[in-house]
Amino acid sequence: MLLPTSSSTAVVVVFWFASVLICCFPRVLHARVGYGYSLSSLKELPDGGGLLGYLQIKTSTTTYGSDVPNLKLFVKHESGDRLRIHITDADKERWEVPYDLLPREKVPGAGTGREQNHHEYTGGSGTRLVFGYTNDPFGFSVRRKSDGEVLFNSSSSSSSSGDLFGPMVFKDQYLEISTTLPASAALYGLGENTQPGGIRIRPNDPYTLYTNDVSAIKLNTDLYGSHPFYMDVRKIGGEGASAHGVLLLNSNGMDVFYRGDSLTYKIIGGVFDFYFFAGTTPLEVVDQYTTLIGRPAAMPYWAFGFHQCRWGYKNLSVVEAVVEGYRQAKIPLDVIWNDDDHMIAHRDFTLNPVNYPRPKLLEFLTKIHALGMKYIVINDPGIAVDPNYDVYRRAMEQDIFIKHDGKPYLAQVWPGPVYFPDFLNPRSASWWIDEIERFHRLVPIDGLWIDMNEASNFCTGDCKLPTTHSCPIPGNEKPWICCLDCKNITNTRWDDPPYKINVSGIGAPLGYKTIATSAEHYNGILEYNAHSIYGLSEAVVTHRALQGLKGKRPFVLTRSTFVGSGKYAAHWTGDNQGDWKNLRYSISTMLNYGMFGMPMVGSDICGFYPQPTEELCNRWIQLGAFYPFSRDHANFHSPRQELYVWNTVAESARNALGLRYKLLPYLYTLNYDAHVSGAPLARPVFFSFPNFTKGYELTTQFLLGESIMVSPVLKKQSTVVKVLFPPGSWYNMFDMTKVVLPKDDRYITLDAPWNEINVHLYQNTIIPMQEGGLRSKDARKTPFTIVVAFPLKAETAEAVGKVFVDDDESTEMELADGKSTLVVFRASLDGGKVRVWSDVKMGAFAREKGFIIGTVRVLGLESTGISNAVEIKIDGEVSKDIENVRFVSSGLAETTKLEGDTKKRVTVVDVTGLGLPLGKKFSMTWQMGVQ
Ligand SMILES: *[C@@H]1O[C@H](CO)[C@@H](O)[C@H](O)[C@H]1NC(C)=O
Ligand SMILES: *[C@@H]1O[C@H](CO)[C@@H](O)[C@H](O)[C@H]1NC(C)=O
Ligand SMILES: *[C@@H]1O[C@H](CO)[C@@H](O)[C@H](O)[C@H]1NC(C)=O
Ligand SMILES: *[C@@H]1O[C@H](CO)[C@@H](O)[C@H](O)[C@H]1NC(C)=O
Ligand SMILES: *[C@@H]1O[C@H](CO)[C@@H](O)[C@H](O)[C@H]1NC(C)=O
Repeated sequence: MLLPTSSSTAVVVVFWFASVLICCFPRVLHARVGYGYSLSSLKELPDGGGLLGYLQIKTSTTTYGSDVPNLKLFVKHESGDRLRIHITDADKERWEVPYDLLPREKVPGAGTGREQNHHEYTGGSGTRLVFGYTNDPFGFSVRRKSDGEVLFNSSSSSSSSGDLFGPMVFKDQYLEISTTLPASAALYGLGENTQPGGIRIRPNDPYTLYTNDVSAIKLNTDLYGSHPFYMDVRKIGGEGASAHGVLLLNSNGMDVFYRGDSLTYKIIGGVFDFYFFAGTTPLEVVDQYTTLIGRPAAMPYWAFGFHQCRWGYKNLSVVEAVVEGYRQAKIPLDVIWNDDDHMIAHRDFTLNPVNYPRPKLLEFLTKIHALGMKYIVINDPGIAVDPNYDVYRRAMEQDIFIKHDGKPYLAQVWPGPVYFPDFLNPRSASWWIDEIERFHRLVPIDGLWIDMNEASNFCTGDCKLPTTHSCPIPGNEKPWICCLDCKNITNTRWDDPPYKINVSGIGAPLGYKTIATSAEHYNGILEYNAHSIYGLSEAVVTHRALQGLKGKRPFVLTRSTFVGSGKYAAHWTGDNQGDWKNLRYSISTMLNYGMFGMPMVGSDICGFYPQPTEELCNRWIQLGAFYPFSRDHANFHSPRQELYVWNTVAESARNALGLRYKLLPYLYTLNYDAHVSGAPLARPVFFSFPNFTKGYELTTQFLLGESIMVSPVLKKQSTVVKVLFPPGSWYNMFDMTKVVLPKDDRYITLDAPWNEINVHLYQNTIIPMQEGGLRSKDARKTPFTIVVAFPLKAETAEAVGKVFVDDDESTEMELADGKSTLVVFRASLDGGKVRVWSDVKMGAFAREKGFIIGTVRVLGLESTGISNAVEIKIDGEVSKDIENVRFVSSGLAETTKLEGDTKKRVTVVDVTGLGLPLGKKFSMTWQMGVQ
C-alpha cells in the first residue's frame, strides 16, 4: 500500500548535487512485526545505580521468529552528559560487543530498589538528559534538560495516514526500534557508506551496517566498516543550534531507515544498547562519544608527512626509483609503502629473496631511515594453508583459526587457500605478536597496514580444496576468482536468518564473500555475531604488537573498522576510482570518520583504479594534501601515478604539500587535540559554525581544525571554485595579502588556477607554522612563524591558538614535564595597539629541543606603519637582544577592489628576525601608526 506523507524539510543541496526537494515520498506500511511490550516493574537502584525494569510481551507474532517474552531494561546516567539505555532478554544471556574489546560499564544482573513510577528519571541534579517512558505499550524518550528538546522518542505517533512506525520488537534474530525526529534534525554518520548526496543523511537513502569488502565506488552500500552512531544537529527557530549523538552499540548486521520524520533500526541480533550524548556543540558530542569508545590514537609526527604506495612495485629497484623520483622533483615524501609485492606468493611475514633481496632492502632502509623516512608494508589476516609455511605451522600448533564444523574454516584470498586467525582468542594475540616480532627482525618496518579484514574471502560458503584442479591455479590472471570447491550453506538460521539485511547492496547472503556466519570463534562465539568486529579485534592486537616492538608509537592502517577502532588505527577509504565523482565522495567519508572517532583518514589520492587523467590527479593532490592521512596509492593495472609523473601534478604537489609541511605543527597539535578530546582533524563546516545552517550540507569544502577552510576544485575543466564562507575575514594561506569577506551567506566564486587550491584562515585565530621541507624530520627543525589573524581592519579584536610539541614517537602523547610542551598564543588589538603573548605549559621540553619562533605575522591590521619600537619581553624581562628584529609590512594599505567586493588586498605585518625560545613565555607590543 502506498500512502502519501506530509511534506517535510526542503533540503538545499550544494551546487553539484542535483537540486532535490525532499518531500512527498511514499511510505510503505508493512504488516506489523510485533505489538510491543508492557512495563511490568521498574525500580530505582540505590546510590545512583540507575533504573532496572522488566518488560512483558503483549501479543506474540511469528514473523522473523518468536518474540523474546521477557525483557530487562536498564537505564543509567553514566555521566552528566551520557545516558545509557540497555534492553536485553531477561531470562537468557545474549551476545553483546565483548566488554574486553570495548571496555565499558557492566549492566547489573539484578538489584533491589525503590519502585519508580514518575514516568521520568533525571538521575540527579548533575545530569543533562532525562529518561521518560510510557508503560503500555512500552516506549521511551530522551530529553535534554536545558532546552527541553526531545532527542529520541520510541513511542509511535499516529496520523491520518497510519502509524509512523511499529512498536519495539525483540526476537532472537530480529530487533526493531524507531524514533520520531523533528523536521529540524540534520543527521550525520551511520557508516561506512559512500554518500553521493554529501555528509548529511538524506531521507530514504539506505543505510546497511555490516562489514564487507565492497569497493567505495558502490554508493549507499555497507562498506568496510560498521559505525552505528549518528550526530543530530538542530537549529530551532531563532535559537542557536545544538547537537547530540546517539550510539546503538551492536555488532550484528542492521538496516537503518531514515524517513525524514523517523528513524528505524532493524537488527538481526544482539541487544539494544543505546548511548545518548547530550552535546551541545558538535565538538562536545565527539568528546563525549570518544570518552566512551576510546580516544583517537596518537599518531607519530611522520605520519602527517606524505605517503606513496602502489600495488605493483615489482622489485626493490622500482621502490628506490620512486624515492629518487620524489627527491629529484623536490616533492615532499616521508613514507614509502609496499603492497604485497615484497612477499613470497602473497604470504604474510615473508620476504621475496629475488625481487626484494634482504641485504639490499636493509641497506635501502638504513639509508632512508637516516633521512627520517619510514617504510610500511601490507598484511592480510588470511594465512596460507601449507604445512611447509612456518607461520601457518605455528598457528596450527596454537590452534587459533576460526572453525566451521570443528575444522579451521577454509577460504581463499590472495595467497590461495587460507585460514583466518581468530583475534578474539587470547592465544591468537600472542601468536600474532610473535609473528610481527619475527618479521620485524627480518625487515625493520615502521608500521603495518592491515587489509582485507572484513574479512574478505573470494569464495562463499563451505569450501574444500578441489580434487580436480590446483588452487590457486598456476599463472592465473584473475586470482580473485574462487577456485575452491564450495557449496552455499542455507540450512542454518545463522547463514540464512529470517530477516535479510541488504548485504553488499544486492541483498546477498550474510556469508557472501566472507566467513560463513555459522563459523565459530573462541568460546563458541558465532561469526554471525562477531562478523563486524573482526577488523577491530585485529587492529587491537596489531597495535599492541607494534607498541611492544620498539617502545615507539604504533602506526596501524586498517580497512575494516568498528566502534572504537580509532583508538588503535588510521583508516583509508578503500578501493576508489580515479574519477571526479570519487574525488568528491572522499570528502564525506573523511568527515564521517572524524565523527566516528577515527580522524586519521584519507582516500587513495588520484584513485586506486583505473588510470586518472592528469587533470584529475592534479586536483586530487590539491585536496589530498589536506586529508589528515595523505597517501597516493594505485592498482597495478593503472599506469604509474606518482606525483612526479606529470609536470602539472608535480607543480601542484610542491604547492599544496609545501603548505601542508609548513602546517605540520598545526596538524600535529590537532592530533594532540584529537587524542585528548576526540576533536576531528578534518571537520564539517558546522563544527565551527553550528548556527550557520547553510553549511549543514556542505561537502565540497571542509575545515582543518577550527579555522582553516579547504575548498578544492571538484569539477573537470574548471579554474574557479564556488565557496560558501560563514561571516568574517578569511585570509588566503598561500598569499596572505588576499582576504575574502563574505556577504549575505552567498557562494563566492574564487579563482582556482591549475596549480592552486584555495585554503583560507579564519579571523580571531593564531596558528603555528614552520618553514616546511621535503621531510617532516627536517621541517620540524625550522623556526616557527606564528600567524595571528584579526578581523580585517577591526578596532578591537582578540585571537587565540596553540601548539603542542613532544618527541614525536613516544608511546604516550600527553602533557608531561620534560616530555612535551603546550604553548597557548594570544593576541589583542585595541586602537592600533597590538599585543601578542604566550602562555607556556611544561616549557622545559621545547627549551631543551631549542625550538625557536623566528617571525610573528599579523593579518588584518589597518595601517602599514609603526609609531614606536616593538617591545619584547621574555619570561617577563625586557629583551635586550632585539637588534635583529625587523618590522616588515607588505601588501597595500588601501583597499583594492578585485572581485565584487569579496577579495581585498590587506596588510601583512611581519615582526621578523626574532629568536624567541618557544618554551619561554613571551609578550610583544607595538603601536600601529603612520609610516
Ligand atoms: C513521544 O511520542 C508520543 C507519541 O507521539 C507522545 O505521546 C509523547 O508525548 C512523546 N514524548 C515526549 C517526551 O515528547
Ligand atoms: C549560536 O547562537 C547562539 C544563540 O544566538 C549563541 O549563544 C551561540 O554563541 C552561537 N554559537 C556560535 C558558535 O556562534
Ligand atoms: C625491476 O622491475 C623493473 C620493472 O618490472 C624491471 O625493469 C627491472 O629490470 C627489475 N630490476 C631488477 C633488479 O630486477
Ligand atoms: C551461492 O549463493 C550466491 C549468492 O546468493 C549465488 O550467487 C551462487 O550462485 C550460489 N551458488 C550455488 C552453488 O548455489
Ligand atoms: C539495497 O541497497 C542498494 C544500494 O544502495 C539499493 O539500490 C537497493 O534498493 C537496496 N535494496 C533494498 C531492498 O532496500
